[in-house]
Amino acid sequence: MIPRILFGIPLLLAASAVDAAVTVYTSATGTAAMAQYTVASTDQTILNAPPPPAEFNPATFIQLYDGGMTGMGQPTPGSLFGFSIELSVAAMLTDRCLTHHIVLRPEFLNYCAILEARAGSITIRVGGNTQDKATLNVDGNPNGHTIEKYKGTDASPTETPEVHFTLDLLNAMAEISKLVNVKWFFGVPFLKTNSDGNAAVVVQNSMSILGDNLLGLQLANEPDLYGPHFKKWQDYSIPDFLNETNYMLSNLPFQGNPNVVGPSVCCMWTIGQLLDAGYLNQFAPHLKYVDVMHYPHNNCQGDENVQELYPAYLSHTEVQNLVSPYFDAANVAIGAGKQFMMMETNTASCGGFPGISDSFASALWATDYAMQMAYGNFTYGLLHFGGQNVYYNPFTPPPTNMTHIRKWNTGPIFYAQIVAAEALGKSGNARVIDLMLDNNSANRAGYAIYENGVASRLLLVNYVQPAVAGSNANDYLATFAIGGGQTGLPAITAASVKVKYLRAASVNSKDNITWAGQTFGQQFMSDGRLYGDLDVQTIQCNPADGTCNIPVPGPSVALVFLTDAAYQNSGADVATPMTFATSTTTQRLLLTMDEAQLNSSNGRSGADPLGTTSEGGSQTSGAAAMVGSFVGVVSFVVGAVVARVLL
Ligand SMILES: *[C@@H]1O[C@H](CO)[C@@H](O)[C@H](O)[C@H]1NC(C)=O
Ligand SMILES: *[C@@H]1O[C@H](CO)[C@@H](O)[C@H](O)[C@H]1NC(C)=O
Ligand SMILES: *[C@@H]1O[C@H](CO)[C@@H](O)[C@H](O)[C@H]1NC(C)=O
Ligand SMILES: *[C@@H]1O[C@H](CO)[C@@H](O)[C@H](O)[C@H]1NC(C)=O
Ligand SMILES: *[C@@H]1O[C@H](CO)[C@@H](O)[C@H](O)[C@H]1NC(C)=O
Ligand SMILES: *[C@@H]1O[C@H](CO)[C@@H](O)[C@H](O)[C@H]1NC(C)=O
Repeated sequence: MIPRILFGIPLLLAASAVDAAVTVYTSATGTAAMAQYTVASTDQTILNAPPPPAEFNPATFIQLYDGGMTGMGQPTPGSLFGFSIELSVAAMLTDRCLTHHIVLRPEFLNYCAILEARAGSITIRVGGNTQDKATLNVDGNPNGHTIEKYKGTDASPTETPEVHFTLDLLNAMAEISKLVNVKWFFGVPFLKTNSDGNAAVVVQNSMSILGDNLLGLQLANEPDLYGPHFKKWQDYSIPDFLNETNYMLSNLPFQGNPNVVGPSVCCMWTIGQLLDAGYLNQFAPHLKYVDVMHYPHNNCQGDENVQELYPAYLSHTEVQNLVSPYFDAANVAIGAGKQFMMMETNTASCGGFPGISDSFASALWATDYAMQMAYGNFTYGLLHFGGQNVYYNPFTPPPTNMTHIRKWNTGPIFYAQIVAAEALGKSGNARVIDLMLDNNSANRAGYAIYENGVASRLLLVNYVQPAVAGSNANDYLATFAIGGGQTGLPAITAASVKVKYLRAASVNSKDNITWAGQTFGQQFMSDGRLYGDLDVQTIQCNPADGTCNIPVPGPSVALVFLTDAAYQNSGADVATPMTFATSTTTQRLLLTMDEAQLNSSNGRSGADPLGTTSEGGSQTSGAAAMVGSFVGVVSFVVGAVVARVLL
């Protein structure tokens, strides 16, 4: 079937790359009135950058060793730092999608292509609060939509509606994976414990449709909130959860493929409690990953003193404190032959913080966080997406049915995903060690990345914003050697090394962040591609003692490539990866959503206290903004897509 296109010219991709039913739109010039981002564009909060530390060490010496270093983490994939998308949001992407016609949004594909060029693949989880009562109707929904919603029947005060989706969602995900190498996690409904056979249908179809592109099936989502949030009985306990998990695993058709992810605890129970209670021992034959969800703070009530929290996002110590509570559990999981992962995280639950989540500070923080997770033996850490009125999205489509050229917003945190992908590269063997620079100072971070025993890369963070913007008062010089010096070993440092910098005018910058000279430009002005010339520094090392001096300006991240192989393997030489249609498209997706559904699509999760009984905990302005945000996400279509050909 050939879709008729009203707006846009379908870009015919190579037949080998694309199924005939997939269309990527190029653009016609949009004529609709320019839509405005609602909250994010009007909230241009600029906080006061924390002052530089009283004592600032302008020099740091780093001794690396050939062969590896004691304490480095497990081999980590370049796709460690991926995305988490709420099922209700992702499923909406296919609503009104015509069966067998899947339209892909080029901006989303461009963002993915950037990560793929560096990491080899992209990790995306589709799930969240709404997965737990979702129904897959294999024969289609009663009203013919890919997704339909019905009022919930439980006692929940938020009356979260139940999501009914069709196979089009899974088919769309499979099509995306043919274009860009996305590997998926998918959520299995848990609340009904398969009493209606539906969880089994989800397991069976997601496995058969996604095949090798399915990394794992998430069984239960934040079960520690099932009691407090009235999803099950109020004193729902760990033994209850273990019993129900056992019941599910005994009844679901995993076809001998042990790819289950759990227990996905966030807030009331610790992962240690679950392990102590026997979760891993009991379910080991089914588990592939042990996971957690966590945000360092929450904005669910909207009453946090964001200025006071700002320094916590410019501190290596805080990043260590965020990850170290999971070291033991990760090592227990690995000892049992499993992988450990963070299923959902970001700067703060319920949308993040203005001035932090949308500023360069979050890029520094998230780069450090990704590397700390790699050091802490996490295989994946997935950044959650919210709607259009949140501050923390890696990227956000324009909040309108009409997408204009270069109008997506690229969040600073997406740059961290690029840097992390490049730091870890495509080998799948990156082993990371936290170098605890300068006596483990809070104001800088350093990691060495080894691959197959070879020191491949060095990543250096400088968190300090000088008192006078643009001054070099808080630059530091990192001097390193591989072997040599006091090690008594021969120095094997190369004659020169290549260095890429992540820079911005200040930790407060929202615009014009650059990675090796390239940028997504100003806010709300992106088509998902990096612009500008690739600017890679070559630094000559000192042949006398094998040391190299790397300037690390405040604030910045420096990624040092220690070998040519490491540089190639990171896609670091690729200025422009494969891109999809340069200009964009028209999608018309206006959905009617009820308020509770909107509330629960906002990515609330994580560190919020008992007090929040609303699943949504909307931090801002309520329904109007939420609707705006939702429409934005709709056009985002699983990131993009799917969608809909106008007939
Ligand atoms: C990560 O795993 C490695 C190998 O098992 C271990 O040596 C290391 O101590 C672990 N890292 C942390 C931070 O626990
Ligand atoms: C275990 O869970 C199953 C499924 O929810 C339930 O039918 C059964 O009664 C539970 N058993 C106990 C002892 O709680
Ligand atoms: C987009 O929405 C606006 C406002 O609802 C409407 O006037 C316009 O016709 C729509 N554009 C398309 C292409 O559907
Ligand atoms: C390193 O930090 C520790 C803990 O803050 C401190 O006790 C020690 O004196 C510091 N060492 C140096 C050399 O600064
Ligand atoms: C970002 O760069 C553009 C193009 O160079 C420039 O016009 C704009 O003023 C810059 N924005 C900021 C905040 O520096
Ligand atoms: C949704 O959230 C808003 C804002 O917090 C709240 O006023 C409203 O009552 C919520 N609606 C439902 C149905 O939960």
